[in-house]
Amino acid sequence: MDERMVAGELQNEDSADELSLRPTNLSQYIGQQKVKDNLSIFIQAAKMRDEALDHVLLYGPPGLGKTTLAAIVANEMGVQFRSTSGPAIERSGDLAAILSSLEPGDVLFIDEVHRLPRAVEEVLYPAMEDFFIDIVIGSGPSARSVQIDLPPFTLVGATTRAGLLSAPLRDRFGVLSRLEFYNPNELCDIVERTSDIFETSITHEAALEVAGRSRGTPRIANRLLKRIRDISQVKGETEISLETTNEALKMLQVDDAGLDYTDHKLLHAIIDGFQGGPVGLDTIAATIGEESQTIEDVYEPYLLQIGFIQRTPRGRVVTSSAYEHFGLRKDNE
Ligand SMILES: Nc1ncnc2c1ncn2[C@@H]1O[C@H](COP(=O)(O)OP(=O)(O)O)[C@@H](O)[C@H]1O
Ligand SMILES: [Mg+2]
Repeated sequence: MDERMVAGELQNEDSADELSLRPTNLSQYIGQQKVKDNLSIFIQAAKMRDEALDHVLLYGPPGLGKTTLAAIVANEMGVQFRSTSGPAIERSGDLAAILSSLEPGDVLFIDEVHRLPRAVEEVLYPAMEDFFIDIVIGSGPSARSVQIDLPPFTLVGATTRAGLLSAPLRDRFGVLSRLEFYNPNELCDIVERTSDIFETSITHEAALEVAGRSRGTPRIANRLLKRIRDISQVKGETEISLETTNEALKMLQVDDAGLDYTDHKLLHAIIDGFQGGPVGLDTIAATIGEESQTIEDVYEPYLLQIGFIQRTPRGRVVTSSAYEHFGLRKDNE
């Protein structure tokens, strides 16, 4: 897959800055008010009872702040943050080693938790429910199972879609929080916060422009800002202007709605090839040479959010607002 300027997923160029840009407590975490309100109560209650926080599942499209929030939970609880990911844990022994090294109350963050191998997942069930694991020592007829007690800990899982999780795993999370796309005002706050950290100034109208073209996603807002800042600096500006912002976004091929060539390709495939749909996801995937899962998790959520695509029982439909966006008219409505 090409590196998209407006991809929500983590890319190489993000990694250096992501750490420094991450807010470290709930009050610095912009937006997601409902999620924050909930977590804040659960955190306070757990601290009052001197208990580990209940297990938390964070789900939503890439780049919305799941990893950031998981680290904030640990910080607010005043415990260690241990981080791994579903695909990184290949064998149940790997997970057993991680679990038995936890201190009481620690947060264990498992990113892409839906990608845990099944055998590993099964180790997690008793660990989450009753804080113990069974490990098998030896092999053949002399093999025996030993139970190891674990300290109470908090599992924070992140996934792009809760529906990808197996039911027994999903049921073991006490708190399920869905992160939503950010509105332009929230994204504008994030852009201004990031500029402060970069020690660059940006006009409010320029920050709003970046916000409006970031697909509701902080990671994209930060990435666009970085590129715009480069261009502004080369032009010798002391403050990032709206004019430079528009110019830069044009260079980066990000359109007025924050869409790029991949979105255009997807929408045009349905408009040109299937008269706007309905057309099945797998057919679209085959047409544009992408995986169905990537389309569903990464490309489509924002297009659904802004009402450019609709899901129907018979497949995806491109709406008349998407046609209008391209200066076209949808006839068959
Ligand atoms: N609510 C927020 N407030 C400020 N910055 C945020 C917020 N959410 C995300 N970010 C920024 O966006 C970047 C991506 O967030 P991240 O937690 O890695 O997303 P995810 O894990 O959901 O893909 C982070 O580096 C952080 O700087
Ligand atoms: Mg993440």
